[in-house]
Amino acid sequence: MLRPGLEGVPVTQSAICDIDGNQGELNYRGYPIAELAAKSSFLETTFLLIWGELPSASQLRDFEEAIQMHRRLSFRVRDMMKCFPASGHPMDALQSSAASLGLFYSRRAIDDPEYIYDAVVRLIAKIPTMVAAFQLIRKGEDPIRPRDDLPYSANFLYMLTEKEPDPLAARVFDRCLILHAEHSLNASTFSARVTASTLTDPYAVIASAVGTLAGPLHGGANEDVIAMLEEINSPDKAKAYLERAITKKTKIMGFGHREYKVKDPRATLLQSFAEDLFARFGTDEMYNVAKAVENEASPLLGPKGIYPNVDFYSGLVYRKLGIPRDLFTPIFAISRVAGWLAHWREQLSANRIFRPTQIYTGAKTRTWVALDERAKN
Ligand code: CMC
Repeated sequence: MLRPGLEGVPVTQSAICDIDGNQGELNYRGYPIAELAAKSSFLETTFLLIWGELPSASQLRDFEEAIQMHRRLSFRVRDMMKCFPASGHPMDALQSSAASLGLFYSRRAIDDPEYIYDAVVRLIAKIPTMVAAFQLIRKGEDPIRPRDDLPYSANFLYMLTEKEPDPLAARVFDRCLILHAEHSLNASTFSARVTASTLTDPYAVIASAVGTLAGPLHGGANEDVIAMLEEINSPDKAKAYLERAITKKTKIMGFGHREYKVKDPRATLLQSFAEDLFARFGTDEMYNVAKAVENEASPLLGPKGIYPNVDFYSGLVYRKLGIPRDLFTPIFAISRVAGWLAHWREQLSANRIFRPTQIYTGAKTRTWVALDERAKN
């Protein structure tokens, strides 16, 4: 039987992430997301996701040091990125740059644990540098070097803005990365696993996942949420906007999820992060619009199990951190690379190439018609 979008069809076994969509619960390797966001760091969570256990103190120190050593980009990668059109979307720049790593690190030894560790380190280290580099390059500036004295998230914000971030901003950003790091078999992770199943290199795996994440039904929704809030512009216009959209069968961006039938637990946490930032740095008038949209949507969409998802409040957090709108999805990618790599390893540990079947609806065998005998139109 055909199941469009593979809804409800298991295609693999996985021990990485567990979602209870009715209770609004999300665990990475058994640890609740709220606890990780409160107590862990993005790199520690990344280690947990990829290797299955929390690191010891020395494992974490080694992992952090290795990542710090590999944050820089080769001048060839930077020069290549300078040739990208400044008007291009940063997700396209990221997909191309990530894929190019396969050229620079062309040895492929996916059954060698050392190769896997090095590839993980390289990707986790370099993806943020690529995102920050493209941001400066498209403004006509040279990318700046990572700062060895700054931790992962603070360094990314520094490379992006050329200013050392406020500690609260850096901590909130790190917590956002934790929340976005993994979410079971969403479209981009499925893409990663399909690509991994061919035994290609990890850079191709990540590049294919970045391309999948870019679409507006997936990671790209966080950009559209801000556009929607700006269009609504005032809390008292939220109800009319929603009613019009529902009548026209237009999707409300940042709402709905294949897995969750209640408010996404990440949306609840992101809303609290936004409030922390507003308390410290001043509010954002679009936050009142967002709250009005959530309230007004509740009686209209709630009965269908449609509530805010991870993308609804993340844009407001990133905006307060001074991040341009078209970098919201690349930031999602910086984080999700952890989950993609965990799935890459898991796929390799019990691989069988993905090759689903189809229900053919085309013509049966037909008789060839020569070009001069075909009907003219
Ligand atoms: N606004 C209004 N109606 C909606 C929405 C929404 N955001 N989402 C789903 N529905 C309705 C849809 O119109 C349909 O109604 P009906 O049965 O009357 O035709 C029903 O709910 C089922 O929708 P669906 O599109 O078949 O559901 P799906 O599980 O295939 O899609 C989704 C899930 C996330 C793609 C969808 O909810 C959506 O397009 N949301 C808006 C885009 C968005 O916020 N995406 C981010 C997803 S979370 C992060 C991520 O994965 O990257």
